[in-house]
Order: sequence, then structure tokens, then C-alpha cells
Amino acid sequence: MDDSVSQLDSTDLLIGGERRPASDGATLPTENPATAEPLAEVPAASTADVDDAVSAARKAFRGWHSTSPDERGRLVHRVATEIREHADELARLESADQGKPLSQAESDIQGAARYFEYYAGAADKLEGKSIPVGPDQVDYTVREPYGVSGQITPWNFPGNLFARGVAPALVAGNAVVVKPAEQTPLSTIRLAELCERAGLPEGLVNVVTGYGEPTGQALAEHDGIDQLTFTGSVPTGKQIMRTAADSVTPVTLELGGKNPAIVFPDADLDNAAEWIATGIFTNVGQICSAADRVLVHESVHDELLDRLVEIVEDYTVGAGLEDPDIGPLVSEEQFEKVAEYIELGRSNDVDTVTGGETIGRPGHFVEPTIFANVERTSRLACEEIFGPVLATLSFSETSEAVSIANDLDYGLVAGVFTSDLTRALRLTQQIEAGNVYVNKWFGDTNQTPFGGYKQSGIGREKGLEALESYLQTKNVAIDLGDGTDLPGG
Ligand code: NAI
Ligand code: MG
Repeated sequence: MDDSVSQLDSTDLLIGGERRPASDGATLPTENPATAEPLAEVPAASTADVDDAVSAARKAFRGWHSTSPDERGRLVHRVATEIREHADELARLESADQGKPLSQAESDIQGAARYFEYYAGAADKLEGKSIPVGPDQVDYTVREPYGVSGQITPWNFPGNLFARGVAPALVAGNAVVVKPAEQTPLSTIRLAELCERAGLPEGLVNVVTGYGEPTGQALAEHDGIDQLTFTGSVPTGKQIMRTAADSVTPVTLELGGKNPAIVFPDADLDNAAEWIATGIFTNVGQICSAADRVLVHESVHDELLDRLVEIVEDYTVGAGLEDPDIGPLVSEEQFEKVAEYIELGRSNDVDTVTGGETIGRPGHFVEPTIFANVERTSRLACEEIFGPVLATLSFSETSEAVSIANDLDYGLVAGVFTSDLTRALRLTQQIEAGNVYVNKWFGDTNQTPFGGYKQSGIGREKGLEALESYLQTKNVAIDLGDGTDLPGG
């Protein structure tokens, strides 16, 4: 077992500052995806445990809401300090549990610290407005927290996404209950411990590990949850939204993508190939904003592919802790899903330019794979694979590229590669996606809003805009006049 796992104080639930097993003693195993061997057992929280976590959060919320904003900011900033002090151990834990290459886990954890720093500075700047409605009324708005935020996170960036949701929720004055994905609970458990060490009040950050059902479902439908943040698949996001409708609970959903990278003949093809390879093969393609499909002008299709193949054939494969380029997929389930798409490509006579095989070693490894000239309407071109599988399509006219890019119900991110600035700017206007990159991929930082158009989601993560998900507006009207005029006249 990796040291980072044995150093965990406990893998129990964290409810109201207490560590405890599930009320019915149920557990679930989390494995090391590089070996498919169990790494640790964590509690599988029951509905009663979720009740307790929500009550603990409600209690902590009252005190936190009345804590001065500058003090809230200071405490949240201390979480960043704790994360930075434990960054190596956290990265090893993430890499062991999730499978990702160690240097990618390190970058995720630095990003997690950065979320706490970034939002800490906003704690005392959440200002309302004064609205000039005339001499007879003073009118202003106050931005208030919702109360208890329920956060359901996925397995692809567990530690980083914990921070992405928890930091703005806390800074806005909310308490949180977090349900990490069953495949990758360990970094969340550790990060919640570090929140306590940083001095956050007991019960402000609670963790209920468990499966989607009943644990996630119990959180989504809980009456005591005032706001829900979810990142994951489109079907589960829709299910959560339907559940939340019953109690009119606002949701922030960050869902999937099938993100186009559009490459024009005047692009710097070396740069495009580097970014596209990084865009699709980082975290073995298990990224909602992966560069899943390349739309490349027919005159440079083969040239771009040659460069991509050259990059991919240099990749090393191995366990995350060995810091290869390509680690394992997170689970057997994900492996089977990706293997099915690879099989689909091979059986449909699509041109397999590189890869196209699973890797026969313990753990869930598949080769980085590129399928060329796939049919525009084929499953490979339209469905989110969430694995190291790139599909290329060629186009001749710009309008055709835009139409292929916008064809799907997804609209998370897109990239344009060209040296013609006017063309790039036109495309940024025409593409239906929440984020558009020009001559790069992954152009997001902690400071920039991130989220989807269409079925890729609702609301924005990251940046100051994410705070909107955690604040509601109260308008205060104070009478200065002596009449009783009705409004709207
Ligand atoms: P999922 O969306 O079902 O799981 C994400 C989280 O939701 C996990 O914590 C899970 O326990 C929880 N969950 C599942 N069912 C729930 C329910 N009924 N109520 C409340 N919470 C529930 O995704 P899954 O099954 O792990 O992966 C399936 C596919 O989803 C992947 O192959 C990939 O295509 C996509 N995905 C997208 C992600 C993104 O970043 N947008 C992240 C993870 C998966
Ligand atoms: Mg695991």
C-alpha cells in the first residue's frame, strides 16, 4: 500500500466534526486502477447518515453565516496553506486511488490550493447594490448564502473538484455536505481533514462516502439541502435536476462534452498537434473538456495526423505513481465502456491510425487511439467516450466545420487553430460552447468561468461567476415617504 494511504487518519465519514462508520456498518472498497487491487475500504453512508450530515451542516451554517466575512476569508485561506503543506502526500493519494500520472495529480492539488486562495480573497467583497428608485424609498440588495450546499463529485478530478465547489460555497457563507464518487473517495476524505486542521468550525464541511444510490440520491432529495452542485454524466445530472425540482432546489450542473478542435490550413500544426494530444490524452481522456473530436481541413488532415501519431507513439504507459504519460482508466466499468468504443471503430472499418487495443496487464489500460475520417453521424463522432480515443473528421468549408461543431446537444468547450485572427474571432462568435480556446486547449484557470451550453450544464464553476451559484439576493425596501402608492404605476 502506498504510504499516502496508510497516513490517512481515518477513512470514516466526517459528520459534525466526528469520524464514524456508516450507521449500518456498510462499506465499499476503492481500488488502485493500476493493479485492480483494493486500496482501502470506506463507509457506504446510509440515508440516516446523510440526514445527520445535513443536520450538522445546518447547525454549523448558523455560526458561519454570522462570522465576519474577513474572518471567513482568513480561515478559508488557511485551508490552502494546509493543502500546500500536504501537497505531495495528497498527490500520491490521488494518483493511487484515481490512477492518474503523478505529475497530473500534483497539478490538480496545486489547483485545489489555488481555489481556496482565490475565493478567500473574495469573502469580504460580496457586495450588494443600492438601487435609486426615487426620493420616497431607500432600496438595496444583500447577497446571502443559501444555507447547506450538497456537492456530488465525480471520479476524474476528485480532489480538485472538491476544492472547486467547496471553496466558493464556504466563502459565500454556506456549509457543505460532499459526496465523492465511489471510485475515488480518498482525497476528499483527506481534504476534509485538512479543512478541520485549518480551523474551520466542526460540521461546516461534512463528507458522506457512498454509491450514487442510496447516498447521492439521499443527498439530492434531502429537504435540508438548499443548493446542489453536481459534476458528472448527463443522465445522472438530469436525474438530479428532476429530484431537485420537487423541493425547488437550485442546481449547478457541469456535465459532459464532445468537444471539437477545429484546425485550419494556416494553423501552426506542431502547436495544434501538441495541444490536441494534451487535450485528449491527459488523464487518459477522462476529462469533460477533453479534445474528443478533431475537425481538420482536408488539405492538412494527413499532415496533422502524422504529427499526432508521432507524439502518441512516444508515450509511456504505466501506473500513475510511476508518472507515465498514460495511466490506467479509473475502473473496470470505464475500461469496458472505452473498449466497446474501440471495438466499434475497428469493426466499422474506420481507419485506425494508432492504438486500437486494450493493454494486457493488470489494471484498466487501453492504448491511446486515433480513428481517422470517422462518419459525422457515427457514435465515435457524437458520443462522449471518456477515454484516450480521438476521432478525426475532415472538412472543406468553414461553414461545414461550424455546423459539425454545433451539431450535438453538448456545448462545453471548443478550440480553434488558425493564424488568421479575424477567422478566429468569427468562429468564437459562431461556436455554441461555454468555453472557446484559440490556438490552445485547456485555457481555463481558477479565475475564468467554466461551464456548458446546451446539455453540457447549467451555471458556471470557477471565477467570480461561480459565487453566483452560492448566493441569493435579498432586496430591502425602506419607506421614506408618507403615501401608500401601489407599485407598478
Ligand atoms: P455519474 O454521473 O453517474 O457519477 C458522478 C457522481 O454522481 C458520483 O459521485 C456518483 O456516485 C453520483 N451519482 C450517481 N447516481 C446518482 C444519483 N442517482 N443521485 C445522486 N448522485 C448520483 O457518472 P459515472 O457513472 O461515474 O460515469 C459515467 C460516465 O459519465 C463516464 O463514462 C463519463 O462519460 C461521464 N462522466 C462525466 C464527468 C464530467 O466531468 N462531466 C465525470 C465523470 C463521468
Ligand atoms: Mg480508487
